[in-house]
Amino acid sequence: MDRSGSFASLVKKISATLKGVENRDGKLKAVCGLLKDNVPYYNWVGFYVVDEKRPNELVLGPFEGEHTEHTRIPFGRGICGQAAQLERTFLVQDISKEKNYLSCSTNVKSEIVVPIFKNKKVIGELDIDSHVLSPFTEQDEAFLKKVSEMVSRII
Ligand code: SME
Repeated sequence: MDRSGSFASLVKKISATLKGVENRDGKLKAVCGLLKDNVPYYNWVGFYVVDEKRPNELVLGPFEGEHTEHTRIPFGRGICGQAAQLERTFLVQDISKEKNYLSCSTNVKSEIVVPIFKNKKVIGELDIDSHVLSPFTEQDEAFLKKVSEMVSRII
């Protein structure tokens, strides 16, 4: 399935949402909503931000979806912590095969975590959980990298 058309239209909506710099969290939350509401297999969408006081820890920022107990994640732990430590996207098509994983909900089958960079340093990440097995394609990865670049300007 070609997802490029719907992703291109979402990029336009996200760009409009991010205009200006005020109310950072409101904008991030709106981006979560746009992603979750428009892509059927994006079932939990959230941002983690690197803690300024503890630079080896991620703190949960705005999100859409079920409540999660993982509000703080040290670098190296879980998919999120590994993505932050290794400074690369983690795409897990089947989380039952991943040992270093922090479970949020038994409904989750797969996950993608894309780091957000500023001046070549990780300042946060975009985390998406799916209730579908193996839903993510290269188009999702490219799209979510683009979204991460866009939000990096306001974080
Ligand atoms: N599953 C993540 C934890 C965060 S939740 O998905 C919201 C992980 O393994 O890092």
